[in-house]
Amino acid sequence: MPLDIVVGTQWGDEGKGRVVDLLAEGSNYTARYNGGDNAGHTVTVGNQSFRLHLLPSGMIHPQSVGVIGNGVAINPAVLLAEMESLISAGLPVTPQRLHISHAATVITPAHRALDAAQETARGKVKLGTTLRGIGPAYTDKVARTGLRVGLMREPENFGQAIREHVIRVNHNLVQLYRAEPLDPDAVAQEYIAYARQLKEYIGDASSLLWEALKHGKRILAEGAQGTLLDLDHGTYPYVTSSSTIAAGALTGLGLGVGCVERVIGVTKAFQTRVGSGPFPTEVVGEVELHLRGTGEHPWDEFGTTTGRPRRVGWLDMVLLRYAARINGLTELAVTKLDILSGLKTIHLCTAYRSAGQLYTELPHGPADLESYSPVYEELPGWEQEIRSVRGWEDLPGRARAYILRIEELSGVPVRLVSVGPERDQVVEIN
Ligand code: IMP
Repeated sequence: MPLDIVVGTQWGDEGKGRVVDLLAEGSNYTARYNGGDNAGHTVTVGNQSFRLHLLPSGMIHPQSVGVIGNGVAINPAVLLAEMESLISAGLPVTPQRLHISHAATVITPAHRALDAAQETARGKVKLGTTLRGIGPAYTDKVARTGLRVGLMREPENFGQAIREHVIRVNHNLVQLYRAEPLDPDAVAQEYIAYARQLKEYIGDASSLLWEALKHGKRILAEGAQGTLLDLDHGTYPYVTSSSTIAAGALTGLGLGVGCVERVIGVTKAFQTRVGSGPFPTEVVGEVELHLRGTGEHPWDEFGTTTGRPRRVGWLDMVLLRYAARINGLTELAVTKLDILSGLKTIHLCTAYRSAGQLYTELPHGPADLESYSPVYEELPGWEQEIRSVRGWEDLPGRARAYILRIEELSGVPVRLVSVGPERDQVVEIN
């Protein structure tokens, strides 16, 4: 059945929004399955740039219906603002064009306050979260005290649930973290207003998608964050609190395993990370500045959600092979190849060394990466600017050699390479 999943293979920010935007052109539905407004997907169309945190980026295409699955944590204020921004750009957002699962989780200001208080309490061992309340909202879900979106269908009852939730979280804020409590009535009033605006959009997203699949419609599942931030399979504890991998699309949308056709892994041509945690191929100095940029361009490596400068490094093939296995990737999309233009030499991490031993696979998964140092292969770089290239044969030979080496070392075919921020700045490989 035609369910395609787009998943990040690194620590997020791989350029998934770009790839989703391209694939959404041929999809009837685009569905977000995990995370919340900690994500930031930038899509550029002409001179208009959309920064979406919650709405599926495929909704930029008028024919693609948006779905927010049960695996997502929703800050209603952010969602409503994004809906408004699409409407102002002339893109309709109606209950026919956006469906929100009744089983998705609601994020409140109390979750955000708890996120901040917990980060402060961690002191030097901060996780570097986005402070969007993600961890506390998913904690509530797992503890079975979460606020499900379905409650919003009855705004007054929802308000009461919000009031009780804020009172409960206040207790922890004050007693455990010596933080300021929130006003339960004010938060309840705010959330009743959101419920009134959103209730028409709430439904059974799982059965809607199943019916669509049965009728031969194409669905694109849009992952947020990346494989190495997955709660179970990432660099724990420096991870997010949701299932970011391809399997998360099935639990996060309520679909069966047999629906999947393609699993597209998006990888940057280099590696970035925002927040704390191990990063074996991280670089500092001249190459760092080259890869990150100065912040003057929208594509420079600064967080879409938080504005934080991202840590940068060489592409890590041990981790990419791991991502290929964990997600069952059927193909790769390599983004930002143009950024490597002008580097004399490009390093590719092919293995790790630890206590005198060489490892080409991770013996214990990526959680204890601190104890490994990267082993590099060096490839000659290319001087040419490649942003105007559209055909595989027109790429410089050294750029092609780099892509072919990624393919060889990952065991996954590269089907798409992006060479610039614009929609059409891609090279498709058949
Ligand atoms: P949280 O998801 O806000 O709890 O943050 C946990 C970790 O995931 C932190 O290191 C964040 O920087 C990182 N993170 C969360 N969302 C994203 C994202 O969309 N891109 C990159 N990193 C992210």
